[in-house]
Amino acid sequence: MAVIGRILIDGEFFDAESASISVLDVGFQRGYGCFEAVRAYDGRMFRLDAHLDRLEQSAAKLHLPVPDRDDLVAWCTTVAEAAGDSVVRTLVSGGTDPRNLGTNSRTVVVAEAVPPQPSMLSLQSRIAPWHTDGDWFELTGAKALSYGFNLAASVEAQSAGYDDALLIGRSGNVLEGPTFSVAWITDDTFHTPSLEIGILESITRQASIEVAERVGIPVVEGVYDLDDVFGAAEVVALSTVKEVHPVGRVDDREFVPGPVTAALAAGFAELVADELDR
Ligand SMILES: Cc1ncc(COP(=O)(O)O)c(C=O)c1O
Repeated sequence: MAVIGRILIDGEFFDAESASISVLDVGFQRGYGCFEAVRAYDGRMFRLDAHLDRLEQSAAKLHLPVPDRDDLVAWCTTVAEAAGDSVVRTLVSGGTDPRNLGTNSRTVVVAEAVPPQPSMLSLQSRIAPWHTDGDWFELTGAKALSYGFNLAASVEAQSAGYDDALLIGRSGNVLEGPTFSVAWITDDTFHTPSLEIGILESITRQASIEVAERVGIPVVEGVYDLDDVFGAAEVVALSTVKEVHPVGRVDDREFVPGPVTAALAAGFAELVADELDR
């Protein structure tokens, strides 16, 4: 990933080459910790508060302390302003003592270049046996550092010639992408998997629901299987990095982005501009 500028660790600046945390940190050793990625537009962030709320909720679920909100806001703002258009990632490590979580925990704030996206995404459906798929437990909804299984699903889909994976639960429910939410248009209605099935409470998904309602597109949050997606007219991927992005293919089924995708993408851009102007 292309880092922009210097990296903050616990509020102190380091060059990318010298920024480091301990190899004994359980964030590195066991993926114990949590993180957020916030989009900055020309140095100003979209829904930072919502991201920091989710970071604090993730940390609470992991029994991890996080720095004060004022510090987090100041660190993210400093990094975003220096980086311009970027993705500002905030990572809180578990620390060096698994029996006393948070001991020597490090908070890293780093800006990355917004990665280029193909004009339309192709997705391969893949069963995700590790996903809660509606079975709630203590960590459901936490954005924990342990993304290895999700990343592996992307890697497997890419090695099969797709851009990414579409995760399907053991029950056959359509869940989400490894790093994005999904939605689709059927009969001029915006359908998206319900949060009840244990998917991440995506900030872009929430913003897209607001946009759909604003432009008069009915919204249904439900429990769906792949045939529901195959029957859709348009499909979109939703995330901080992807924003509202057309999906051109799921397995062998092709989709052509249509007027609703265009309206949602334009409405999302307007929403971002409105909120950044405040
Ligand atoms: C599993 C998963 N679902 C959905 C999303 C999209 O969330 P957001 O819109 O808050 O970026 C992400 C983002 O990283 C994710 O990792």
